[in-house]
Amino acid sequence: MVQNFPVTRLRRLRATPAMRDLFQEQTLSVNDLIYPIFVEEDLDDFAPVESMPGIWRIPERKLDTAIKEIAAVGIKAIMTFGVSHHKDATGSDAMKRDGLTARMVKRAKDAAPDLVVMSDTCFCEYTSHGHCGVIVDGDVHNDHTIENLGIQAVIAAEAGADMIAPSSMMDGQVTAIRKALDGAGFVNTPIMSYSSKFASAYYGPFRAAAGCDLEGDRKAYQMNPMNVRESLRESDIDEAEGADVLMVKPAGPYLDVLIQIKQRSLLPLAAYQVSGEYAMIKFAAAAGAIDEERVMLESLGAIKRAGADLILTYFAMDVARRGL
Ligand code: PBG
Ligand code: ZN
Repeated sequence: MVQNFPVTRLRRLRATPAMRDLFQEQTLSVNDLIYPIFVEEDLDDFAPVESMPGIWRIPERKLDTAIKEIAAVGIKAIMTFGVSHHKDATGSDAMKRDGLTARMVKRAKDAAPDLVVMSDTCFCEYTSHGHCGVIVDGDVHNDHTIENLGIQAVIAAEAGADMIAPSSMMDGQVTAIRKALDGAGFVNTPIMSYSSKFASAYYGPFRAAAGCDLEGDRKAYQMNPMNVRESLRESDIDEAEGADVLMVKPAGPYLDVLIQIKQRSLLPLAAYQVSGEYAMIKFAAAAGAIDEERVMLESLGAIKRAGADLILTYFAMDVARRGL
C-alpha cells in the first residue's frame, strides 16, 4: 500500500549530495559508449565539421595519431565512417580489399589493438548518388544490395573489424551478412544491426560530415518516424535473422521505441544519439541558452534510462575526459 503525505516524504532521500548519489538509479560510463569517427582519404589536416562543433574529419594519413588519442582517454569502441573520394554508382570502393572501408579498419586496429572497431556497413558514403545501395530502375535494389553488404562485411572483417554494423535498412541484411561472414570463416564476428532506423531529419549534420549529398530521400528504405509497431517488427526480424545487438536510431526523440524493444528482446540494445541531437545541444550551448555539460549528461542518461545498454554518441570524448 502506498502511503501518502505526511507519512511519505520523497524529499527525505534527496536531502544531500551523498544521499542523492546513493539513490541514483542510472549511471553513465565510458564503458557503454561508442565514438563515431569520420575518416577522409587524401586529406592533409584535420578538418572541422561546421555543422558539428567539436567534431573533425580525420585525415586517413593521421588516423594512427587520432586513434591513439581516442584510446588514451579511455574510449572502448569506435564506429568508422569513410569520407570517400572514389565514389561510383555501386559504391565499389567499399567492397575492395584496398578500399577506404578496409584501410581505416586496419589502421585503427594497428594503432590500438584493444579498441573495439565497429565497421559501419553501408554504401551511401561510397555511392555517387548517395543512396545506401545499388539503384535499379530508380529504386535501391534490395537483394543486390544485401549481397554487396555481405562482401563489404567480409572485407571489413578481413581488415580486422571486431563488429559489423549494417545501417542500410535493407530487408534481409543481417541474414546476408551472417551468411557471408560464416562462409568466409568469420563465425565469431558479431553483427550489430541498425535495426530500427528512422528516415530522420536529425541526420542533417552527418550528411555534411560524411560528405554524402543525397539525391532525393531515404523514405523507401528507412522507417517512417511516426511508426512504432513497425519498428518492433524490424527489431524482431533482425533478431530472428541472427543479429547479436539491436539498435534504435535516432535516440533521444525515440525513447518510446527503445523502451518497447527493451521489454521485448533479450538482446543487448544500442541507441544512436545522432548528429542533429548533438548539434542542437552544441549550438544551443554556444548561444548561451543551455548548460552544455549538464544537458549532455542528462540527454545520455535519459537514453540509458529508456533501456539502452550502449550509446553511440559524438560526446564520447567529452564523457571520457570527465573520467566517467
Ligand atoms: C548512413 C548513415 C547515416 C547516419 C549513420 N549512417 C545517415 C543517413 O542514414 O542518412 C547518421 C548518423 C548521424 O546523423 O549522426 N547509412
Ligand atoms: Zn547508408
